[in-house]
Amino acid sequence: VPGYLRSAQGRALLCGAALGELLTQAGVSTPAYFYDLDGIGHETAELVQALGARSHLVAYAVKANSAGSIVRRIARHGAGADVVSGGELEVALGAGIEPRRIVMSGVAKSDTEIDRAIQAGLRAIQLESVEEIERVAARARAVGSRARVSLRVNPGIEIDAHAHVATGHDEAKFGIARGDVAEAWRAIDRAGNALEAVGVSTHVGSMLKTPEPYLESARVLCEVARARRAAGARLEFVDFGGGFGIDYGAGPARPPADFARAALELLDREGLGELDLVLEPGRALVGAYGVLVARVVGSKVSGARRWAMIDAGMNDLVRPALYGARHRIEPLDAPPAEPLWQVVGPVCESADDFGEHALGAPLPSHVAIRDAGAYGFSMASEYNGRALPAEVFCADGGVKSASPSPGASAWVKRRLDA
Ligand code: LLP
Repeated sequence: VPGYLRSAQGRALLCGAALGELLTQAGVSTPAYFYDLDGIGHETAELVQALGARSHLVAYAVKANSAGSIVRRIARHGAGADVVSGGELEVALGAGIEPRRIVMSGVAKSDTEIDRAIQAGLRAIQLESVEEIERVAARARAVGSRARVSLRVNPGIEIDAHAHVATGHDEAKFGIARGDVAEAWRAIDRAGNALEAVGVSTHVGSMLKTPEPYLESARVLCEVARARRAAGARLEFVDFGGGFGIDYGAGPARPPADFARAALELLDREGLGELDLVLEPGRALVGAYGVLVARVVGSKVSGARRWAMIDAGMNDLVRPALYGARHRIEPLDAPPAEPLWQVVGPVCESADDFGEHALGAPLPSHVAIRDAGAYGFSMASEYNGRALPAEVFCADGGVKSASPSPGASAWVKRRLDA
């Protein structure tokens, strides 16, 4: 029996046969995401432990997966949150995360979002431009509270990743360019009482397999922090961002704890050991602990080509279409076997294609698309009039709760009402 979800120790947490049973138990229709809450909790606990007992913070990037059951489980194991919208902020607060354990990033925050963040008293609003410093200061005066802020610095570093997930290079819209940092501090100081600059942050990009590029960008940030402190200002934390990769089948990635330990060592070496360290992992906490289960709808064999049509499409999991990502797809009830099938979804786009996978013959009734816990449901859409997929939350080997698909009729009604 294939094990789809493996904990750090290689223990099979949910396997094919179990998933088949869970699908029946959950009583939801496919496509359906299944998550292993125990695996997520365990992964979070390991990283929190590696960071140690001080007031360092694992700020889970809620964008990776914003399901309440998942955010609550992650919070229970000692993590806070990194949010990028008012909606994500409400999910983090609603899941019981204390405001001081939440940071908010984003290049185009609305006034409403900024006001809410100021009033909630977050650890920091991460400012992404000199212009935004002035905007947030004006909002702080308008709401009559001091805003805790940090400067998100663009380190100017290229990483080896798909262009869509590299954020820390010179042409990215994110963060304050190194050349503008001095002007940013002047703007902070000009804002007087409206702003309290408590930290500096960065995020170099996603899918890092080793800590080196992470540390390279962290060093740039340390330089910025040291210069600020040398000018006599106080800082509480440095935030090195997220981006820890996972193994999608092409080779292992170093565990998040290795990134954390390397980051702590760097902080010490840079003479900033008394500052708090914030990390913002998203994918690494949830990616491997979710699978998307789909039904095989039909097949088409034409000459040498064989297509397997499934009921999950790019609207349910967009990563292959958007980033050329490969997710392993395996039969739910049997080990992978020849022949290979081109697995495609129902959406009317050639990009709705999950690649070639060994599904065997005859085709299985259901397949599991692996490593879909991060940026799966959270990026899903209703394109082509397809309802959002179901989600099933598993723990202790069984179904804990299920959130069914809203169904296509809800979509039909909304469109007719529009
Ligand atoms: N912090 C900031 C400021 C970010 O922009 C991101 C991700 C994270 C943390 C978390 O990064 P992670 O640890 O998950 O790599 N949809 C893409 C990934 C986009 C990531 C955007 N920012 C994907 O499916 O690969």
